[in-house]
Amino acid sequence: MNKNELTKSDAPIGIFDSGVGGLTVFREIIKFLPYEDIIYFGDVGRTPYGGRSKEIIISFTTQDVAFLIDQNVKFIISACNTASSVALEEIQQSYSIETIGVIEPGAKAAIEKTKKGRIGVIGTHATINSNAYAKIIHNFEPKIKVFSLACPLFVPLVEEGYIDREATYLIAQDYLQTMLDVKVDTLVLGCTHYPLLKDVITDVMGKKVTLIDSGEETARIVYQKMTENNLLNPKASQRPGVQGEYKFYVSDVPEKFSKVASRFLGQEVQKITRVDISKY
Ligand code: DGL
Repeated sequence: MNKNELTKSDAPIGIFDSGVGGLTVFREIIKFLPYEDIIYFGDVGRTPYGGRSKEIIISFTTQDVAFLIDQNVKFIISACNTASSVALEEIQQSYSIETIGVIEPGAKAAIEKTKKGRIGVIGTHATINSNAYAKIIHNFEPKIKVFSLACPLFVPLVEEGYIDREATYLIAQDYLQTMLDVKVDTLVLGCTHYPLLKDVITDVMGKKVTLIDSGEETARIVYQKMTENNLLNPKASQRPGVQGEYKFYVSDVPEKFSKVASRFLGQEVQKITRVDISKY
């Protein structure tokens, strides 16, 4: 049986992340697919994943996916760069449901944009250590030079709302000097939180360096895949202009998620339910 025959097009899309950051991907998905119903799971009780071991990341990601499957979603998006880098292959082998990560879309967009064949990738420790972006880029274009760098302080800065602060600029300058030194012309924002720092990163890198938002690229690919595989919700055409229904699930305090989530999404987040993820 074809993978997609297991799912129904009128079911919701499932998106998961290690926490709140995946809402930057959610934000892009709803631009392309505004009429789809979406279930979002944020593992806020166990976030961050970025400094954890491969085994733990795989085990957490497996539970996140099992939870979404239990909600009868038709398609799963791993919004988390760390989970996508480290655990996507295992997930795709263990479950028949169509699951897409953010790495390949971001890597392909970087290949398309680079003119000098010099691509920088920034992300969490786990994403950078996995070398996932570089592997995909080199599969397609072995001659491209890839420079990878972990920028772990960006995650707490964004979650604390330190977006336009001098401190954030100084940290960005310190981290990104190596990217300036090696003269990348394209920089992949390989972490859910980094799109919120686009202005600061542009200030440091200069306008000539193209920033790749993996979430945005993923949304484009998801739209294409869903169209090709007849997975678009048929109800969407019957209710034009009516936004899909969104439900949010978290593994710890919904109130904290709600506060940070509105910053990520640029709109109030409602219907947040706490789940015991250890059951999955
Ligand atoms: N969502 C993670 C990512 O995109 C960042 C936060 C974490 O480390 O869990 O890599």
